Amino acid sequence: ERGGYPHFMLKEIHEQPKAIRDTLLGRVSPDLSRVTLSELKWPEGFVKEIDRIHIVACGTAWHAGLVGKAVIEQLSGIPVEVDIASEYRYRDPIQTPNTLVIVISQSGETADTLAALREAKRRGRRVLAITNVVGSSAAREADDVLVTWAGPEIAVASTKAYTTQLVALYLLALYFAQERGRVSQDELHAILKGIDGLPQVAEQVLDTAPQIERFAKDWAHASDTFFIGRGLDFSVALEGALKLKEISYIHAEAYAAGELKHGTLALITDGVPVIALAMQDALYEKTVSNIKEVTARGAFVLGMTWVGDEELQKSVDQVIYVPHTLPLLAPIAAVIPLQLLAYYAAVARGNDVDKPRNLAKSVTVE
Ligand code: BG6
Repeated sequence: ERGGYPHFMLKEIHEQPKAIRDTLLGRVSPDLSRVTLSELKWPEGFVKEIDRIHIVACGTAWHAGLVGKAVIEQLSGIPVEVDIASEYRYRDPIQTPNTLVIVISQSGETADTLAALREAKRRGRRVLAITNVVGSSAAREADDVLVTWAGPEIAVASTKAYTTQLVALYLLALYFAQERGRVSQDELHAILKGIDGLPQVAEQVLDTAPQIERFAKDWAHASDTFFIGRGLDFSVALEGALKLKEISYIHAEAYAAGELKHGTLALITDGVPVIALAMQDALYEKTVSNIKEVTARGAFVLGMTWVGDEELQKSVDQVIYVPHTLPLLAPIAAVIPLQLLAYYAAVARGNDVDKPRNLAKSVTVE
């Protein structure tokens, strides 16, 4: 049942190219000129009237929501807020009649996320669920559903659900942009071409597994680690840190790279391992200066950048190179080595990878 893999988590990490491909199937025109989300039965004119979006989720799905916010705002111009479900349901959020609420949940059964969904419905909002389980409560109770076709995710630590949630959010952002006339045909085509290439990018990133396994053996001895990045890289850093904490039990903190010097830098001392993501071309120089701030204090830095970048290696101790895609799509490429790092560190520490302590796959109580 684990298909020859020692753990479900490793199997699911390796299933990501297929999961991404399946989630794209039938949603992009063959000539890569349009997004078609025929499952969305939105009333005539609704897409043009949406004036804000609230994304609500827990855990890994919340991290996907953070990427979703950046991408939807950038492409469609619609203002987006992202909330942790257990916060949203109690905070009396300001909604307009044309606020679209998007809940993201792999299982579709997370109690806090469902409560937020129900509260939004009670207030008369239209709710879209992005979920991996077709018959789940979220799928049944939402007005519309975008299914992520990741297939069953057994390991508690979420991997392929996250990457397919990102794919769903990219498609949705492009759909908004297309329907609201916010994107030129050329730009739409360029991004869709990038999205179409993501399964192959994911396959190539998986080839780094043996290298990551070697890095993870050192990492497994750490007690405190930091993940830094800017922009979308920061959202991925949060997810990478969560993976490491969930299954290896190594303390990890994700920081917006520019925020370190506002306090946290005191915790970077000799030998502290730092993972630095430098995938956002427009922010590259700024990130490198932040890397220098931590190396100056003795940090041991594992950097991540695109294949072909000759620069980063000069500022860090080790580098992971991932195949090129658009910086907008970098989270899909960047998260996979971080999933592998967490996995191999947990294995090296002898942990029960698929069933980590104190965690449940789906939390159906508050
Ligand atoms: C947590 C799981 O309890 O729920 C996480 O341990 C998960 O892995 C989170 O990301 C949210 O779950 P779901 O099913 O709502 O996406």
